[in-house]
Amino acid sequence: MLPTPPEHVEGYAWVKSRMSTDAPAAALEFDEETWDAARVALHDKRYLDGGQTVQVTAAVHEESGTVVAFNELVLPSDPTAVSSQEDTLVLKEHRGHRLGMLVKCAGIRSWREVAPQSPKIITYNAEENRPMLDINEAIGFEPVTYEGAWKKVLV
Ligand SMILES: CC(C)(COP(=O)(O)OP(=O)(O)OC[C@H]1O[C@@H](n2cnc3c(N)ncnc32)[C@H](O)[C@@H]1OP(=O)(O)O)[C@@H](O)C(=O)NCCC(=O)NCCS
Repeated sequence: MLPTPPEHVEGYAWVKSRMSTDAPAAALEFDEETWDAARVALHDKRYLDGGQTVQVTAAVHEESGTVVAFNELVLPSDPTAVSSQEDTLVLKEHRGHRLGMLVKCAGIRSWREVAPQSPKIITYNAEENRPMLDINEAIGFEPVTYEGAWKKVLV
């Protein structure tokens, strides 16, 4: 993994922040996250220091030069371990052009070269996230388990 290219740090920070507002999370209601250049640098450093491999596949809007869609794949330090599909997001104003499918497929296709010994990719979605489930099912992901989540608000 190389650190995020300087020209895309701001755009990457913005799409990362939208995961906290746009990804359905049932009624768990997470706080909106703030991402800036310092947080992106810390994010990159944690992965690099941990010996993990991270691939970010992004779609950049030609006119504005801004990141509008992205997808992340992560391999732990063991090259034979299962890979994890982390964030995938298309900015609201760019949805409906299959960019989610495109960044995800481009990422998975190049993952064969990046992580040739990793036998599979695990992803997880909120059950109500039909747009993301449609993409994953079309690619060929299959359900293997269901998990519940609970939140306790500390006052
Ligand atoms: C899932 C996601 C990446 C799909 O975006 P996309 O690639 O632009 O979606 P598509 O082009 O495949 O859209 C297919 C259709 O669904 C609609 N659609 C896409 N995302 C939608 C959403 N979140 N809610 C309602 N409709 C949505 C599109 O407008 C399009 O409609 P059309 O066929 O009438 O034109 C996007 O909804 C998103 O970023 N969601 C928030 C982040 C998220 O949930 N990530 C996954 C967390 S595990």
